[in-house]
Amino acid sequence: MNTQKIIDKIVETSQGSIDELINILNSDCDAYLFKQADQVRKKCCGNEIHLRAIIEFSNHCRCDCSYCGINRQNTSLTRYRMELDEIIDYAKKAYAAGYQTMVLQSGEDPWYTREKISYIIKGIKKLGDIAITLSVGERDYDTYKQWKVDGADRFLIKHETADEALYNSLHPHSSFKNRIQCLKDLKELGYQIGSGFMIGLPGQTLDTLAKDILLLKELDVDMAGMGPFIPHPKTKLKNYPVGSSYLTLKALALTRILLKRPHLPTTTALEVTNIKDRKNAFYTGANVIMRKVQPYKYRKLYEIYPNPSIHEKSIGKERKEVEDYIKIIGRKVANTRGDSIHL
Ligand code: 5AD
Repeated sequence: MNTQKIIDKIVETSQGSIDELINILNSDCDAYLFKQADQVRKKCCGNEIHLRAIIEFSNHCRCDCSYCGINRQNTSLTRYRMELDEIIDYAKKAYAAGYQTMVLQSGEDPWYTREKISYIIKGIKKLGDIAITLSVGERDYDTYKQWKVDGADRFLIKHETADEALYNSLHPHSSFKNRIQCLKDLKELGYQIGSGFMIGLPGQTLDTLAKDILLLKELDVDMAGMGPFIPHPKTKLKNYPVGSSYLTLKALALTRILLKRPHLPTTTALEVTNIKDRKNAFYTGANVIMRKVQPYKYRKLYEIYPNPSIHEKSIGKERKEVEDYIKIIGRKVANTRGDSIHL
């Protein structure tokens, strides 16, 4: 079967074999793939783009991820923690600016105990009809359960790579099996779940990328983020090349035609490697964009990969700029919480 026919079949049936996915990732049939992904996005998710506020509230991390700039071995980084009420206060500012989803992200920082996170969730929930997405890493089942009871709606925890041996070598503090178990537990607890992976990790092949996409399908994710790997000078992978943003767009488009319903953001990593590809992502399947809202003094320190483009603006001004941008590219700014889509 030629690539175009395989794409048509996946659009039609939402099924694809590993060989079919590899065929597409390998082919130069990208214009057709992107066009189909854009149509599927329009049909399944509409023209709305969802804006999410992200509060990166702590860069302390007990993990030792080989690619990540805030890994615990990076002693040159100034570490910060936001106070609990300060986090709630920034959620309040973001809500006033129009955001209806707060993504609470941090390194894996046990200083924020189950009770402290519960306090933050309840404090934010009191402000209004706000969806809370947690992105705080691996915790035990009962903790996840408590936070769901407290009002958390969603959880992001990326599988990073579907190659188990590669995963385990990049994450010496953790295991692939536990990561996947977390995703399954969160789903069972009723969270809307988000996974995702990096493109261009050393040792990754197209076969791995195809498995990444199939794993998203198997997990039946509500959200998925994928971005190019960007080498950080304070990590073990500092000398490896940056991942391809073109391949990232292909993976995004393929995810859209195979899974149909997940919310797919244009990741910041994609903006960093090639700003034009942020726009391209919105035409190849993406329907979400996130904006940082924590104080600027902390933004510079949440450096998981080098990100040169930090210009100080108010939360409201930045929101307005993103809204204008969305309109310019011919899309609509969503005015709902943007919960998961069920077809
Ligand atoms: N390059 C690209 N993405 C990275 N992440 C972490 N470090 C890097 C890097 N060097 C991504 C991971 C993580 C998310 C918060 O950021 O996918 O889950």
